[in-house]
Amino acid sequence: MDFNKVIHRKNTNSMKWDATGERYGASDLWPMWVADMDFKAPEPVREAMQSVLDHGVFGYYRKPESLRQAIVDWNKKRFGRTLETGQFVFTPGVVPAINHIIQAFTEEGDGIIIQPPVYYPFYSLIQMNKRKTLRNPLKEEREGFTIDFKNLEEQMKNGAKMLLLCSPHNPIGRVWTEEELQRLTDLCETYNILVVSDEIHADLVLEGKHIPFAQAAQGKQIQTITCMAPSKTFNLASLQLSYVIFEEDSLKTKYENQLQRQFVGMDNPFSIVAAEAAYRQGEDWLEQLLEYLRGNVRYLKEFIETNMPELRVIEPEGTYLVWIDMRGLNMSASELEKWLRQEGKLALSDGHIFGEEGAGYVRINVACPRANVEEGVRRLKQAYDKI
Ligand SMILES: Cc1ncc(COP(=O)(O)O)c(C=O)c1O
Repeated sequence: MDFNKVIHRKNTNSMKWDATGERYGASDLWPMWVADMDFKAPEPVREAMQSVLDHGVFGYYRKPESLRQAIVDWNKKRFGRTLETGQFVFTPGVVPAINHIIQAFTEEGDGIIIQPPVYYPFYSLIQMNKRKTLRNPLKEEREGFTIDFKNLEEQMKNGAKMLLLCSPHNPIGRVWTEEELQRLTDLCETYNILVVSDEIHADLVLEGKHIPFAQAAQGKQIQTITCMAPSKTFNLASLQLSYVIFEEDSLKTKYENQLQRQFVGMDNPFSIVAAEAAYRQGEDWLEQLLEYLRGNVRYLKEFIETNMPELRVIEPEGTYLVWIDMRGLNMSASELEKWLRQEGKLALSDGHIFGEEGAGYVRINVACPRANVEEGVRRLKQAYDKI
């Protein structure tokens, strides 16, 4: 796969390339925001989808056992995790899955812990379901972002029911270590916290090793639910296929009942064959992708460090999203936003949307050809030189 090849996405109804105007108020901005990739999916995925297209019958479909087996095999191979084919439930996305989990396992007013800065839909999922947001902001230390275990315990003592864990963590790119996960599991066991682990970025590890939370929790009395998908890994987000893994049948049944009440239909023949092909034949592609992403992160970091020393790049251990501290420019969050759009002609994710702790930071998506990263940092430098 030639990841350097630029594929033009304008006028394809792409969110990143065609909705920037609606979202940022100007359509001439260079888009490095929404978390999808500007790469084609692996060839076997496209071939499998082509055969469905050629067949041409788009009636109702069902998910075959072979897809379940492909998921089981992938999890075993990549994470050493042993699953049964009946242990997970398909969903049309991780965000809808978390929504249904919140509805099924908590009541109005219940406290749910999140660790900002964090993937911003977590806030609306909690608020729209009228649950209480309990915040445990990550601590920024010299060695990077870490979990504030002391405050976390306070939140748990305050009657939290659920922890919404982002692992790896978007937007700061942490891949939680065995030791961190062990400390988390200890607290969750002590305070009887249901852990919902959003592991959508699990395959995108640039440094270190992803440990499924459920694996870290083995042997402990903790209820754990894991959300996974091939969508970020293979750039299949629009195909709307993800899955929720349960360790206990009773939780799975409760979740399935909740899902049934929503009448969610999701057996799309394209996503079925795409997901199976990705998990069965996409591993080489993924390894090449990870190497390419490492190169993009390196390039971005070196360019910024050399040319804009007031900015600080937080090197991601996982995800293709880079968190950059721009507080050295001494601008308020709104000044920074305006400057990036008007002077930089850039559409980046503003840090404050991930929580107030993110003010003064931006998130840049580097899952694109190197030339696109180069254009992004070129624009940034042009704006910087004018300050
Ligand atoms: C942590 C996290 N969870 C969930 C999602 C979106 O999941 P889905 O498109 O399956 O709803 C994203 C997308 O960026 C994400 O970063």
